[in-house]
Amino acid sequence: MNYEELLIQNKQEHLLDYIKYLDEKDQAKKETLIKQIENINYEQMNKLYATTLEMMNPEKALEAAFVEHLPFTNRAKLTKAEYKKIFAVGKEIITNNQLAIVTMAGGQGTRLGHNGPKGTFLLDVKPEPKYLFQIIVEDLLHAKEEYGVYLNWYIMTSNENNKMTTDFLEEHNYFGYPTDHVKIFVQGDLPLLDEQGKLIVNKDYEIKVASDGNGCIYKSMADEGIIDDMKAKGIEWVFVGSVDNALVKNVDPILIGLTKIEGNEIGSKSIAKAYPQERVGVFCKKNGHPAVIEYSEIPEEMTEEVDEDGELLYGEANIMNHVYTLNAIEKISKEELPYHSAHKKADMTMVDGTVIKATEPNAYKYEAFIFDGFKFFNNMTLVRGVRENEFAPVKNAEGKDSPATAVELYNNYWKL
Ligand code: UD1
Repeated sequence: MNYEELLIQNKQEHLLDYIKYLDEKDQAKKETLIKQIENINYEQMNKLYATTLEMMNPEKALEAAFVEHLPFTNRAKLTKAEYKKIFAVGKEIITNNQLAIVTMAGGQGTRLGHNGPKGTFLLDVKPEPKYLFQIIVEDLLHAKEEYGVYLNWYIMTSNENNKMTTDFLEEHNYFGYPTDHVKIFVQGDLPLLDEQGKLIVNKDYEIKVASDGNGCIYKSMADEGIIDDMKAKGIEWVFVGSVDNALVKNVDPILIGLTKIEGNEIGSKSIAKAYPQERVGVFCKKNGHPAVIEYSEIPEEMTEEVDEDGELLYGEANIMNHVYTLNAIEKISKEELPYHSAHKKADMTMVDGTVIKATEPNAYKYEAFIFDGFKFFNNMTLVRGVRENEFAPVKNAEGKDSPATAVELYNNYWKL
């Protein structure tokens, strides 16, 4: 089917006007736009648009689900003997270089207002400012000191920030990490749709796309040859963490060791929620399978539910410290994850080049969530860590979870 037929069949005829306009003005841009049009998965986009409103009301979906508490192990309450045993199991995996680290760095960081990939954000910590990527490398270098191995480090970027990320890391010489242990890969993206389900054009006359959420990591790892690369390197376990936590502990023998001992294929680290409305996902079991309910989708009354001891029933916060066997990653990569939809502001370019600035949400963005991959397993290991040791998120420009709060947490942890 040619691009014209594709557009007509999928009710996207408005793009024909752009092509007509570019035909007179700019052949190169016209060709790029046509290529994009030909590469869109219309079946998927039509389905996503048709279910947008349903997706926007996840509380309804939850009503139909049976949700219960997910048990966890409190790291602080392990006996010395237990700790020693679990540590030894985790340590063996690490020292055998069977653990790979994946940093998710494909997000846009819009809330932070930083012009560039989040990992290139300079955090004003003591004794001297450090980039978020630099903090991660330092963590991996600590692991080298502790366990004697350079672990393999993979960085997930997006089409939008891949070049900037690669250039930045090259320029900074990967902050001293050996480059033969680093691989950067790219996640996918999806078009945004306006409220009528129409594709949107940006100021360069391209179809506006955005990264398709951190849940696409599994498929991207398969498509980009990362799973095969890991297999070739003898990797059996994979830690996946985010780029925006200045206290992330990428190499945690307790998390890996306990997951293995409990016979699970997936594990994660939580911290106790600071207060019921904290904007973090919470762990639970949904229809008998491990899950996280995202902060944007949890019903208010559920955030406050307590057990007989007065502890929050859904109080284990997701800090994006996930661990998997490589087999588990491969298994999820073959499954379909659901998409979540968000109502966002998107500037739109008209045929004549006029840009309409969005002042109110006017478009839908579709994202898969990484933790939706947990449902393909019957159980997972959950280890509760200590907030002050594990979590210094850099999310917003100011206020909560901002560079200012992360700096304070970082300096306190390192006693600087
Ligand atoms: C995320 C978690 C939330 C958790 C919180 C803790 C998800 C879906 N949500 O929310 O449950 O409590 O962190 O800080 O995981 N990313 C990509 N590609 C994308 C989108 C995101 O790589 O397409 C990466 C980001 O670069 C970042 C991480 O995923 O490293 C988190 O993304 P973000 O969208 O900021 O998640 P939060 O809303 O903060």
